[in-house]
Amino acid sequence: MNRAPILFLGVFCVLAFSFVGLVLTNQLTYGAFTTHVDEDEGKAFPQQLPGIAAQGKLVYQDLGCVTCHTQQVRREGFGSDIGEKSRGWGERQSVARDYLREERVLLGSQRTGPDLRNFAARKTPAGADFTADWLYSYLYDPKLVVADSSMPRYAFLFKTQKIVGQPSPKALTLSEAYAPEAGYEIVPTARGEALVAYLLSLKDTYAYPETKNVYTPPAKPEGTVEEKKEGTQ
Ligand code: HEC
Repeated sequence: MNRAPILFLGVFCVLAFSFVGLVLTNQLTYGAFTTHVDEDEGKAFPQQLPGIAAQGKLVYQDLGCVTCHTQQVRREGFGSDIGEKSRGWGERQSVARDYLREERVLLGSQRTGPDLRNFAARKTPAGADFTADWLYSYLYDPKLVVADSSMPRYAFLFKTQKIVGQPSPKALTLSEAYAPEAGYEIVPTARGEALVAYLLSLKDTYAYPETKNVYTPPAKPEGTVEEKKEGTQ
């Protein structure tokens, strides 16, 4: 018996279903996304990264920061990025449109360090002492600002140079133990500056229409077991 037609049909179906499932549905779901024009603000979101931050993204890729840091805030109920026992990594979950302008999406898979998708948004309003200087010191040696930090040093993003005239406003403020010899200062290299500009651009705070009706776990019913126990004691 000639089984060739059945075999061909089987192979065809497998390939066709895979194509529909893996390619076509994704294309139909996400391919239609465009930037969201906010008429009130007169801007299209997500916004283009400023030039220096775009260069910084290349430095981030080059140095492999993605091996330890993700860039995706999971929704409430999935992990503890947002919500009650939150690590405070974002106000809302990341959505597909956040990544629209990115040719290379750096989601990452290991959360050895904190998620950085909203790094600038969560650091800036809360930490009054948070500035680009904090980041420069942190990248030079994380232990300068976080005593028990396990983040690697990136001192090679800095250079020691002779002070000519006034000290550079970008020079690191270092304690005696770290300070270079008199007459010298430590300043970020162009790559260091670009990387810091990129980290400062990481904020997905804009509320797209699709972020407004994402799943949130139902509120706990009133009078849960613990509460009842307390009431009867
Ligand atoms: C070997 C893993 C590892 C690599 C590689 C790594 N980090 Fe980290 N990073 C960490 C850990 C762990 C922390 C948290 C430590 C702490 O609290 O200081 C951290 C913290 C940070 C923070 C502070 C986050 C916050 O919310 O306070 C920033 C910013 C950061 N890393 C940026 C980078 C950049 C940029 C690179 C690449 C140049 C990088 N990291 C590479 C492990 C890593």
